[in-house]
Amino acid sequence: MGDDARGPLRRGSIAVARLPARYRPLIVRGKLITIEGLDGAGKSTLAGALCEAIGAAGLPVELLREPGGVALSERVRALVKDPALEVSAPAEALLYAAARAQLVRERVEPLLHDGVHVLLDRYVDSSLAYQGAARGLGVELVREINRFATGGLDPDRTLLLRIDPAEGRARQAARDERPDRLEREDEEFFLCIARAYDELAAAEPQRIRVLDASFTPATVLSDALDALSDLLALRPAARG
Ligand code: TMP
Repeated sequence: MGDDARGPLRRGSIAVARLPARYRPLIVRGKLITIEGLDGAGKSTLAGALCEAIGAAGLPVELLREPGGVALSERVRALVKDPALEVSAPAEALLYAAARAQLVRERVEPLLHDGVHVLLDRYVDSSLAYQGAARGLGVELVREINRFATGGLDPDRTLLLRIDPAEGRARQAARDERPDRLEREDEEFFLCIARAYDELAAAEPQRIRVLDASFTPATVLSDALDALSDLLALRPAARG
């Protein structure tokens, strides 16, 4: 698809809407920022607030979620969450990877190419922790599957919202929603995910920044902006 065939970019893309091709070399590639954590850690709340704050600082930014973000991946989301379906561990890992492969090619790569920062609510680390560790498939195998799925696209930074698994489950229960297929798993499953996230963060401290999710949403947002300030060259004012 040529530059001019691509429609105007959506939310947060003010700086790069349909620039003529001769200006393309001037566009700095956007950054991929992912948000990770246990269910109930407050990822979606943080993601929405971060998107607003980064946009308010005048930077082009788009918020997407996983699994989802494009039509095919939203359908996969419905499948993997459905408590009525039996899904084997390998099928589960491949479904998440398929949803990711489509999202990366259809939305994430084009946005980054156009200079838009992409905030992604979950990405490969979720698969490493949930399918690799908690489902017992092995982190390295799941990493390999995802290298194929994403074409090797790694996050520039990852914010890991760290919460005690019991607290995460309590918050989730308080939401008064029907638990989805994964939320029905037992305590050991979530303890295993929490341990896996900690190990991933310890192995890559430069990329994965750990935030204490037990604080108020305003404090978590402020900590998140601090953790992104060098990457996005945010001025202190943007951090409130
Ligand atoms: P959420 O978007 O509401 O957090 O739901 C996504 C669910 O899917 C959540 O329970 C975590 C799980 N998940 C995986 O197990 N592996 C993955 O790769 C992703 C993206 C999510």
